[in-house]
Amino acid sequence: MSHRVGVIAGDGIGPEVVAEARKVIDAAGVVLDVVDYDLGARRYLRTGEVLPAAVLAELAGLDAILLGAIGSPDVAPGILERGLLLELRFRLDLYVNLRPFLAPPAVDLVVVRENTEGVYAGEGGILRKGTPHEVATQGSVNTRMGVERCVRFAFAQAESRARRHLTLVHKTNVLAYAGDLWQRVFDEVAAEHPDVATAYAHVDAACIHLVETPERFDVVVTDNLFGDILTDLAGAVSGGIGVAASANLNPARTGPSLFEPVHGSAPDLVGTGRANPVAAIRSAAMMLEYLGEADAAARIDKAVAEPGGLAGSTSEIGDTIAGRV
Ligand code: IPM
Ligand code: MN
Repeated sequence: MSHRVGVIAGDGIGPEVVAEARKVIDAAGVVLDVVDYDLGARRYLRTGEVLPAAVLAELAGLDAILLGAIGSPDVAPGILERGLLLELRFRLDLYVNLRPFLAPPAVDLVVVRENTEGVYAGEGGILRKGTPHEVATQGSVNTRMGVERCVRFAFAQAESRARRHLTLVHKTNVLAYAGDLWQRVFDEVAAEHPDVATAYAHVDAACIHLVETPERFDVVVTDNLFGDILTDLAGAVSGGIGVAASANLNPARTGPSLFEPVHGSAPDLVGTGRANPVAAIRSAAMMLEYLGEADAAARIDKAVAEPGGLAGSTSEIGDTIAGRV
């Protein structure tokens, strides 16, 4: 059975790392029915379109989406990030952003980042703009449904792992309302999962733990913004952001899920051969696993982790991994 996969190679190093991911998928023997989408800075600068409704409707009918990177110095910050990346997360209801980090012996953790709410929801506004009395507010949206479905996913994730340990990361000492909801939902769902050991850490302390004692973490569940920041840090302590993969999941499978490296478009690396394709390759492995190609996914993960290291240019690293699978 072939899988219909939309590829959004995107901007900057996106096309370079996606090419390597596709090379490795081919080497693993998985045949995909690929549809390429021209989305990102080039299309926006050419036509003014960010995510046309017809394209979104088409993407919604696919089995999965593989994305390279979005963003360009030629486009004002936020237009593509909010208009394309966040729009896809919201409209396709990709409510979990799953980000695994592995750097033996200390780091073997996965962050379950809520992906549709929090400050990312865009609540707020500016009043009296440009006057001395202007006011900017940016609310954090936390619905019981949104928090609960994310926390439930995290408990299931913890149950599927050997350690069965789940840490809630928040800032309940200051964020009294949002923190209260997260903590109550977490405790309620925990009561249904006596087999999962739980812990709590404030987000600032969690940053110290990630650097000093990352082995304490197994599965971490947190809100959208904390998850964004924490996963860059987790990447930095486990081989760098060039190897950090992510899955934006619609666990209900009412539509496709989207797989992308945690890193951005890195315009300074374009054409230098210095872009690390490992994050895109590991994201592709997560996609194959999600599509039911568990064997190919495991072979790719094993090839990436194989001792002997991965050196060379973008395409040389791709060749090495493709050779190993
Ligand atoms: C990420 C990115 C995005 C985010 C940006 C580009 C909108 O940093 O996927 O982590 O903040 O979620
Ligand atoms: Mn980020």
